[in-house]
Amino acid sequence: MSIHSKPKKIYPYRCKVLSMDLLSIFHKYHESENFIEPLLNDIKNSFGSITENDVVCISEYLNISENKIRKTVESNEELEIIPVKQHIIRLCKGDTCKEHGAEKIIEKVYKELKIISNNITEDGKFRIEITGCLNMCDISPVIGIDNIFYGKIDIFDIEALIGYIKEK
Ligand code: FES
Repeated sequence: MSIHSKPKKIYPYRCKVLSMDLLSIFHKYHESENFIEPLLNDIKNSFGSITENDVVCISEYLNISENKIRKTVESNEELEIIPVKQHIIRLCKGDTCKEHGAEKIIEKVYKELKIISNNITEDGKFRIEITGCLNMCDISPVIGIDNIFYGKIDIFDIEALIGYIKEK
């Protein structure tokens, strides 16, 4: 597939807005008491920052008021909330995607977004999540950006695809 001006939408797919990595952190804390601060620290340590999107997700999924989360952040000098809309990029590293070049695509995405550590860009606008099989092997290799999945991607599509998302 080649993308010049606008990427071809191959396979629209509704999934949780929430990143799976974030969800797995929620599972560690959902039945504990006084968990807000450890949870926020865990998110910061895992992703390098806490975003507005994280605050909304924590509030909805763990049934805590956003106000309570913000107050916890304010009371801890080590924590802060990044006020940006964040895009979540899911990169499948399942066997079929790997057979079709997923590792080169993953490498290219990291390079394109200049991500060095923590799977997040310095400005917090993009977060990467490496996943197992997304059950779309027939259009592998697959990349998901927010709630849209694109198939039969090659490394030459990545620059245009990311550029398109940045402009949205
Ligand atoms: S291995 Fe990537 S969608 Fe199945």
